[in-house]
Amino acid sequence: MFERLDRVPDDPILGLMAAFRADSDPKKVDLGVGVFRDAKGETPVLECVRKAERAVLERQTSKTYVAPAGNAAFNQAMERLVFGPAHPIFAAERVRSIQGPGGCGALRLGAELVRLASPQATVHVSTPTWANHVPLMTGTGLKLGRYPYYEPSRGVIDFAAMCQALETLPAGDVVLLHASCHNPTGADLSREQWQELVPLMRRRGLLPYLDMAYQGLGSGEEEDAYPIRLFAAELPELLVAVSCSKNFGLYRERVGVLHVVTEKPVIGVAALSHEVRVARSIYSMPPDHGAAIVNEILGSASLRASWTQELSVMRARINGLRRQLVVALRAACPARDFDFIAHQQGMFSLLGLSTDQVRRIRAERHVYMTDDSRINIAGLREDNLEYFAQSVAHVLR
Ligand SMILES: Cc1ncc(COP(=O)(O)O)c(C=O)c1O
Repeated sequence: MFERLDRVPDDPILGLMAAFRADSDPKKVDLGVGVFRDAKGETPVLECVRKAERAVLERQTSKTYVAPAGNAAFNQAMERLVFGPAHPIFAAERVRSIQGPGGCGALRLGAELVRLASPQATVHVSTPTWANHVPLMTGTGLKLGRYPYYEPSRGVIDFAAMCQALETLPAGDVVLLHASCHNPTGADLSREQWQELVPLMRRRGLLPYLDMAYQGLGSGEEEDAYPIRLFAAELPELLVAVSCSKNFGLYRERVGVLHVVTEKPVIGVAALSHEVRVARSIYSMPPDHGAAIVNEILGSASLRASWTQELSVMRARINGLRRQLVVALRAACPARDFDFIAHQQGMFSLLGLSTDQVRRIRAERHVYMTDDSRINIAGLREDNLEYFAQSVAHVLR
């Protein structure tokens, strides 16, 4: 049977990681995979995670199953973190949550729910978007559409074109949006623009599906959740997929959650029953360990304060690097404007290099970024910023 299968190309980001590992040049720079790195280039375990993990292990008396919807206390703690503790959807019982294996698992759970409720719906993603959004949505059998989002030549969002495209969509279609720290562009909508989307979504009967993988790494915990809180207050239905990989540094533990916001509680109960069945039919139950850690942190005033502090250090590092990078690029490439990098947020920016230039910077300067010229800002260090800026100048010549 398996002889029928031809080899498929590697996932571009995972392929890039392997190529970087195999490169023996000491100057090599990894700006490929989207993980946070500190000033030493490491992705450490957060201190609050270490403490929470010890507490979890000390208290744990059994490894018996939890449940297909995961850890209920974690789900509730995440609801409070994402929507804010006093959001009116709680009193109205408008939100139901299911823990998923990472943000990817949560994204897929949401797409499966859409397929069950409305198999003819199309999910529209931004141009460009994070590459894995496409298989996560279409793997369910749902159709894929794209809306314009970013203008690479100017490094800005084309909001007028985006709205114009959304205005033409049929009712019942789904619009996948990045809540903050847009991947791969780093360009986020302003509060005013999010507010403008509310009547558009309502008028056109579109379902917003918000992906939040970087809460707290853009402007702050509260600020980054703004569009979710706004949409939940103003619109009848909403899907929110959340990842704890980056902001808690729990990547391999696979921690995520899907929040389903419905107009009435009874609809939410039905939706969750379908989600439980979906989970059961794929992996049965999500991994517990990482979610137990997050629950421990969010449930303890002191651990939560440490997390906020550690998160703000990560955010400050990224934002500081953005500013330093602009200065270095101005000096190395005076003919080209890279100032947009300082106005964006989160881990990523698109440099606007051609695929050919990206391949050259990899081959000739050992600098690794994805073919679309997305860079992970946190992959830079004070001691290689200059080398990186010179490398960009080298391929622009
Ligand atoms: C935009 C976006 N969404 C979701 C995820 C999900 O990450 P994970 O499944 O590792 O939690 C990522 C990770 O890179 C991401 O960039």
